[in-house]
Amino acid sequence: MKSIKMSFDRFGSPGVVAVVEEELPPPGEREVQLDVRAIAVNPMDWKLVAGYLEPYYPLPLPAVPGCEAAGTVTAVGSGVSAYGVGEEVIWNGVAGGYRSVANFPADQLTSKPAGLDFEQAACVAIAGGAAYSAVVQLGVRPGDTVLVHGAAGGVGSASVQIARDLGARVIGTASEPNHEYLRGLGAEPVAYGDGLEERVRSLGSITAVVDTVGGEETTAVTVALLGGHGAAVTTVPGKESNAAGIAQVQLLDGRVADAARLAADGKLRFNIHERLPLTDAARALGLSRAGHVRGRIVLTP
Ligand SMILES: NC(=O)c1ccc[n+]([C@@H]2O[C@H](COP(=O)([O-])OP(=O)(O)OC[C@H]3O[C@@H](n4cnc5c(N)ncnc54)[C@H](OP(=O)(O)O)[C@@H]3O)[C@@H](O)[C@H]2O)c1
Repeated sequence: MKSIKMSFDRFGSPGVVAVVEEELPPPGEREVQLDVRAIAVNPMDWKLVAGYLEPYYPLPLPAVPGCEAAGTVTAVGSGVSAYGVGEEVIWNGVAGGYRSVANFPADQLTSKPAGLDFEQAACVAIAGGAAYSAVVQLGVRPGDTVLVHGAAGGVGSASVQIARDLGARVIGTASEPNHEYLRGLGAEPVAYGDGLEERVRSLGSITAVVDTVGGEETTAVTVALLGGHGAAVTTVPGKESNAAGIAQVQLLDGRVADAARLAADGKLRFNIHERLPLTDAARALGLSRAGHVRGRIVLTP
């Protein structure tokens, strides 16, 4: 089976990722072959290409970035009974997703709800799964006011929607051009940067925080606003959040299916910032690295 993959043989900037044609073998034991229909681009992908994740996920080179995709099963290897040819699935792993056809371990797949299109399905696993886990970890419920740092991004926009669905009031930080978008999601937008703490205070008390940005300024604002009351969860742990005792998100088992169900029920939708061909992966990674994607970039083989 001929496949196109976006591969890199040295760590570096997004430009090190190049098109490679491969002859894909049939799926091995406990593997499933997927005709990949859509791939979501995550910050994890450019961090992987840069080599920043080597301490956590050491990768032999050459390697292929990509941690989530959706597609149709075209073949199954021995020992696979959970999925059959023609079934539509979501894949979620660490690397290897920037491919037109791929052999993935069957235990990295989740059935795609029938009503969910491939593009949205490709986006739910990482951002939807992390947001769902964060909101559950915080125990968000009606009466809460949740501050979401980075509310226009993948995890942030999903956190806004899930917290709103649970009946919470949500205040979200974003740059001015994203404020109308946040209002459309049901959040009250606030510009980040100098004076953030005062701007949020002027809107009322915060009972919980989802931090998808991290760093000194954001952490300091979180601590000041909660003042020892309420809880915070971060998807970007670092020395500042550790020192402040802010919990890292604990990813829930079953989060991909849960997020996919929310999306299929119309409660979670990702803005598609840009649709690009798979072969434009380097451009997509560069956009993600620049840090101002609204929702998700999707690659199509
Ligand atoms: N631990 C986990 O399991 C897990 C899972 C998923 C993601 N993550 C991590 O969580 C982080 C967020 O992921 P993501 O996919 O949501 O990223 P993303 O979609 O690339 O986030 C982009 C968004 O960040 C916003 N932004 C940039 N600087 C900001 C600031 N100082 N304050 C507020 N918003 C700001 C941008 O809004 P503007 O354009 O308005 O500036 C943009 O909409 C990444 O570091 C990712 O690696 C961790």
